[in-house]
Amino acid sequence: MAQVVLEGVRKVYPPTRGGPAGGVEAVKGVSLSIADGEFVVLVGPSGCGKSTVLRMVAGLEDISAGTIRIGDRVVNDVAPKDRDVAMVFQNYALYPHMTVRENMGFALKMKGIAKEIIAGKVTAASKTLGIEELLDRKPGALSGGQRQRVAVGRAIVREPKVFLFDEPLSNLDAKLRVTTRAELKSLHQRLKTTTIYVTHDQEEAMTLGHRVVVMNAGLVQQFDTPLNVFGKPANRFVGSFVGTPPMNFVLGSVKDAGSLTFASDAGASLAFPASRGGLRTAVGATVQLGVRPTMLRLVRDASNATLEATVETVEPLGEQMDVHVTLKGGHRMTARVPIDMNVTPGMATQVEVDMERTHVFREDAQAARVDG
Ligand SMILES: Nc1ncnc2c1ncn2[C@@H]1O[C@H](COP(=O)(O)OP(=O)(O)O)[C@@H](O)[C@H]1O
Ligand SMILES: [Mg+2]
Repeated sequence: MAQVVLEGVRKVYPPTRGGPAGGVEAVKGVSLSIADGEFVVLVGPSGCGKSTVLRMVAGLEDISAGTIRIGDRVVNDVAPKDRDVAMVFQNYALYPHMTVRENMGFALKMKGIAKEIIAGKVTAASKTLGIEELLDRKPGALSGGQRQRVAVGRAIVREPKVFLFDEPLSNLDAKLRVTTRAELKSLHQRLKTTTIYVTHDQEEAMTLGHRVVVMNAGLVQQFDTPLNVFGKPANRFVGSFVGTPPMNFVLGSVKDAGSLTFASDAGASLAFPASRGGLRTAVGATVQLGVRPTMLRLVRDASNATLEATVETVEPLGEQMDVHVTLKGGHRMTARVPIDMNVTPGMATQVEVDMERTHVFREDAQAARVDG
């Protein structure tokens, strides 16, 4: 096992025909320190550079600048096969003409390891994954979920220092994705191998990672525990990317008239509780008030914590429902409320904001969170 450290890692893909003249700067300076045995998830929208980071750790892409260390060794110029990492790809990349047994043992065979030793390791890994009955089949005779396990098995038998996963569950249906996700987590708890896992799915990131790296446009936005990424998003991007349904935003400013308030652009005013005194640093600044749909209630009476709204649509979700409303001034919001509320489209309502739990982001290029 090993720690993985990235320092100022950049990747500029060379220019391609029809692309920008200077090439594409896919990764713009990423520094991460991943501890020995840690499970870290890189998450972000498609094209933000996740796979490129992972492929640079694997050695499948050269790095344009910076340093990558695995264990105590700088691996910038080390060939992929000598890095002691095993990667599982989205498409699994199994050899179609080989049996599961041969697929799983192939990397060890290439290393010249003795047949009996390979057989032992393949048997052990197949037991771990519950695929012993599949060993003599070829990939064409396996379901998507079974192929996924074989791909993981192939990585396990190599006993690498680091596992690298690139969207390994994307090809599975929703139900299988959830059960396989739990299996990967329990596998990591047993093997405790340092793992870097890439996904665009924020739910997968939150459920799997000890820590989560939220990326956007080639840059790390936040590297933190799932709890903090959700509860203390570092900037507006993280706030909007993590959580379903997405966070609502209302533009306005923080005012201090004895007590702190949020004054929306549409004229409404919401009072912050005394506990939010730390927001005083943002008085006068234009901000976005971030409000998760679960922090909203629909009530009858107006107060200093409510906004006037009209119900647009209602989406029932079993125990809860998502109610989409339009505020005075035309702004839209979504509230997640109990299913038994009597709400119909066109109805006028007051939206009560749990001001204690709101997030405040500066309305500038960084859109950083204001603490307090
Ligand atoms: N081989 C390549 N040549 C040129 N550009 C590439 C190449 N691979 C990826 N890119 C570009 O780099 C950016 C990041 O890609 P990628 O790392 O695959 O993102 P992600 O995995 O987050 O979806 C994208 O703009 C993508 O188009
Ligand atoms: Mg990718």
